[in-house]
Amino acid sequence: MMWSPVITFLLLTLSTICYGENPGAKILVKEQGLKKGVEYLVNKLMSNNTEYQLPDVSGSENIASEDMNYEFTQIRLVKFHHGNILSDWVPETGMHVSMENGSATINCNWKIDSWLIRDSGRGILTISGLSISMMMGLRRIDPGVPSISLLDCQSSIHNVDIQMLDGVSYVYESLKQPLQDVVRATVNRQLCSAIRSQSTKWDESVSHLQLNVTLNPFIDLDVSLVGNPEITDSYGCLGLKGLFRTHNESHSEAAFSPAPLNISIQDGAMIYIGVSQSSLASLASAYYSAEFLTFQVSHMEGSKALTTAELATYIPEISQHFPNSLPVKILMYATRTPMVFLHSKNITVQFGGSLQANAYSSEAKHESIFSANIVASFQVNMSMSEAIGARGMNLTASMNLNRLQIEGSQPKENKVAVTEKAVQQLIHGLIIPSINENLSRGIFISSSFLKNATVYPEEGFATLAANIQ
Ligand SMILES: *[C@@H]1O[C@H](CO)[C@@H](O)[C@H](O)[C@H]1NC(C)=O
Ligand SMILES: *[C@@H]1O[C@H](CO)[C@@H](O)[C@H](O)[C@H]1NC(C)=O
Ligand SMILES: *[C@@H]1O[C@H](CO)[C@@H](O)[C@H](O)[C@H]1NC(C)=O
Ligand SMILES: *[C@@H]1O[C@H](CO)[C@@H](O)[C@H](O)[C@H]1NC(C)=O
Ligand SMILES: *[C@@H]1O[C@H](CO)[C@@H](O)[C@H](O)[C@H]1NC(C)=O
Ligand SMILES: *[C@@H]1O[C@H](CO)[C@@H](O)[C@H](O)[C@H]1NC(C)=O
Ligand SMILES: *[C@@H]1O[C@H](CO)[C@@H](O)[C@H](O)[C@H]1NC(C)=O
Ligand SMILES: *[C@@H]1O[C@H](CO)[C@@H](O)[C@H](O)[C@H]1NC(C)=O
Ligand SMILES: *[C@@H]1O[C@H](CO)[C@@H](O)[C@H](O)[C@H]1NC(C)=O
Ligand SMILES: *[C@@H]1O[C@H](CO)[C@@H](O)[C@H](O)[C@H]1NC(C)=O
Repeated sequence: MMWSPVITFLLLTLSTICYGENPGAKILVKEQGLKKGVEYLVNKLMSNNTEYQLPDVSGSENIASEDMNYEFTQIRLVKFHHGNILSDWVPETGMHVSMENGSATINCNWKIDSWLIRDSGRGILTISGLSISMMMGLRRIDPGVPSISLLDCQSSIHNVDIQMLDGVSYVYESLKQPLQDVVRATVNRQLCSAIRSQSTKWDESVSHLQLNVTLNPFIDLDVSLVGNPEITDSYGCLGLKGLFRTHNESHSEAAFSPAPLNISIQDGAMIYIGVSQSSLASLASAYYSAEFLTFQVSHMEGSKALTTAELATYIPEISQHFPNSLPVKILMYATRTPMVFLHSKNITVQFGGSLQANAYSSEAKHESIFSANIVASFQVNMSMSEAIGARGMNLTASMNLNRLQIEGSQPKENKVAVTEKAVQQLIHGLIIPSINENLSRGIFISSSFLKNATVYPEEGFATLAANIQ
């Protein structure tokens, strides 16, 4: 009994060591998604390898009570059809991929040597009823990259047909069957060893994947793996770091501690990508450190130029100071990292910054109308649709002002003293429509294989659910 607190303590300590780091993002792939993905990969790998060189085959066989040496060289796979592809997740291990009833056409040179006959020529092998079954292991290795391994491989060939194009045909008719048996056994032996060496190459290339992705000259995204993939009968799930950072930012990592992210699987979609609130917070922080959060809100593309007269409809006092209407520019910039809150029914963004309105008497000369430090909370809606005229998705959004407060006292050089209510109305009537006009045009996300994507918030994260085509 006296040991149990110690053991509990040890277990807790161990569990924080092993699971201390939650992924900031997750990619969950359902069986149908795996199937589509494997089909895509097989087609991609095979479409290029129309001419695949295979190792030479030689040996000696006792055929019709004669010892016969044979040699097949210059063996080239010229046509391959994989047949039916089946794939499943294998819980806690990886995946099982099989091809059934595939076929192949192979060109080769042959040489036969026995006391009865010595001859050579070209030949065509047609292989049918080809089946390959592979068990692949999938895990994480340091420093957070995937590793794949071939755990098991089995193959069988139902039928081989040899056509010998040169030489004396009647001789080969009698040799054909035994030769076909030899070739079938040999090709079958070679298949899995060829796949084994290929899978070593695949592992080599996935383990060299660059998982610190450069998004723009200032911001990186770290998508290295956090922990081994979680694999069940119905899905495989990769936990990714999901941390955005500026190139010169090294200290932010300690503050990055995502909450557990539990994607709710809904019927239908093949792939789910969950992005945590922490991950979005690191994005906001990186944008803020890179000084990207300055908006000229009144002069966004498409919206007409703003004037002091127009501004006076929100803040009447302005017309006293600017009897002649002048063009106005409103600048809004963040003075701290914006915060994003994801809930199951709503997304809220909290923005702390400064709002400045300047009147331009000429291109180069301007004077401040007012400036104010604000804390504003916005509610955001997002939706995803197919992009028009390009392969990809179109993310559109709209926002609403929830709350606004003016922080601190207004600067002395303000011509106009603004009230909270006036700024609220200004943001509501002028700035939000202008931002929404911009957001409604959509952000294009290039993607050649995601289809019918939807995006929705959940408690603490946002999910993108899609099909794979
Ligand atoms: C396929 O062929 C293209 C062009 O020849 C080449 O750039 C690409 O790397 C090849 N892909 C594979 C998987 O071999
Ligand atoms: C195997 O493939 C051949 C054509 O390549 C087809 O005629 C045959 O019906 C297939 N058999 C099965 C069991 O799918
Ligand atoms: C990504 O970059 C970080 C910081 O520069 C580094 O600690 C980490 O090992 C890198 N991850 C990979 C997978 O290269
Ligand atoms: C995730 O959610 C499902 C139900 O949606 C629940 O059964 C499961 O226990 C949750 N897992 C974790 C780790 O919270
Ligand atoms: C990081 O880079 C940004 C953009 O180049 C720069 O504005 C900022 O001052 C830099 N921060 C540090 C801590 O060096
Ligand atoms: C957003 O949703 C959460 C829980 O679903 C709720 O507690 C919160 O009040 C909502 N916020 C707004 C601004 O509607
Ligand atoms: C995105 O959606 C908006 C609103 O429906 C539309 O105006 C815009 O043309 C779309 N953009 C693309 C690239 O599909
Ligand atoms: C978001 O959508 C809800 C329901 O469709 C709607 O009531 C609300 O006004 C929308 N909010 C914004 C900011 O567009
Ligand atoms: C408005 O849209 C343009 C291009 O569509 C973009 O460059 C600009 O950053 C957007 N502004 C805001 C505040 O989103
Ligand atoms: C996308 O949705 C449409 C309509 O619901 C459906 O017809 C189509 O098959 C879907 N595409 C994919 C790849 O799931």
